[in-house]
Amino acid sequence: MTDIQQAATSYQCPDNAFNDRIIMVTGAGDGIGRAAALALAKHGATVILLGRTQEKLEAVYDEIVAIGAPEPALAPVNLEVARPADYEELAGMLGNAFGRLDGILHNASILGEITPLDQYGYGTWESVMQVNINAPFFLTRALLPLLKDSADASVLFTTSSVGRKGRAFWGAYAVSKFATEGLMQVLADELENVAPIRVNCINPGATATKMRAMAYPAEDASKLKRPEDILAPYLYLLGPAAKGITGQSLNAQI
Ligand SMILES: NC(=O)c1ccc[n+]([C@@H]2O[C@H](COP(=O)([O-])OP(=O)(O)OC[C@H]3O[C@@H](n4cnc5c(N)ncnc54)[C@H](OP(=O)(O)O)[C@@H]3O)[C@@H](O)[C@H]2O)c1
Repeated sequence: MTDIQQAATSYQCPDNAFNDRIIMVTGAGDGIGRAAALALAKHGATVILLGRTQEKLEAVYDEIVAIGAPEPALAPVNLEVARPADYEELAGMLGNAFGRLDGILHNASILGEITPLDQYGYGTWESVMQVNINAPFFLTRALLPLLKDSADASVLFTTSSVGRKGRAFWGAYAVSKFATEGLMQVLADELENVAPIRVNCINPGATATKMRAMAYPAEDASKLKRPEDILAPYLYLLGPAAKGITGQSLNAQI
């Protein structure tokens, strides 16, 4: 295990580590994104909750307000249909409201089909690529000016083990995660020594969520880690402790 992975795995986030930090979480209404948004808010962040289902975002908003954490912002966006102009508009609104952005957790993804490539649906392929890789690029590009206005910004992409070694039947999902690793590496290399923006990937590993249940319907979910159990490396990479660390692809579970 590398020193950075060790530091991420054993990280104990101080209560106020995210005070005065503005962090966007995509897919914040459910699963790992919901848990990450709550944890960030508990540690002082003002969280921008981006997702496609308004009611889920509102429920997370209510939970955050109920614990007395900083009031979050809602960004209802369907990543499958939003166009670059929509992300520019969102960036303009966030610029007016906050003036800068200190981090993005790119977490939203869809699984698509678990099926051989010769039967893989063309439309599904396009949807998976749109949500999992095109949208994170569009969003990041639109938000880069706001990230550049932060003294210490962190862009964290979500990868998967099938984005590091291809696996039969995982189709567009696996290919989109390889592309995510590539996007992370290109952006990290471009920004290193140019702007105080670090860019990394995190692989959550097997975690009890709706997506996991879709991929492994016969599995006993009670034996898996829950989203709230795997967050230390997320808080490490998104927060001040990982200042200067960039271009890494870490695991949330080892
Ligand atoms: N769970 C695992 O075992 C595991 C393993 C490896 C990697 N991952 C990765 O971890 C991340 C989180 O996965 P998860 O397991 O928490 O999945 P999940 O429970 O299915 O949650 C995915 C989130 O993404 C949102 N989303 C999906 N399509 C969207 C769209 N078109 N526009 C906006 N938001 C959209 C969903 O919104 P709605 O709830 O409104 O649909 C949901 O909030 C993903 O990147 C996944 O690839 C997970």
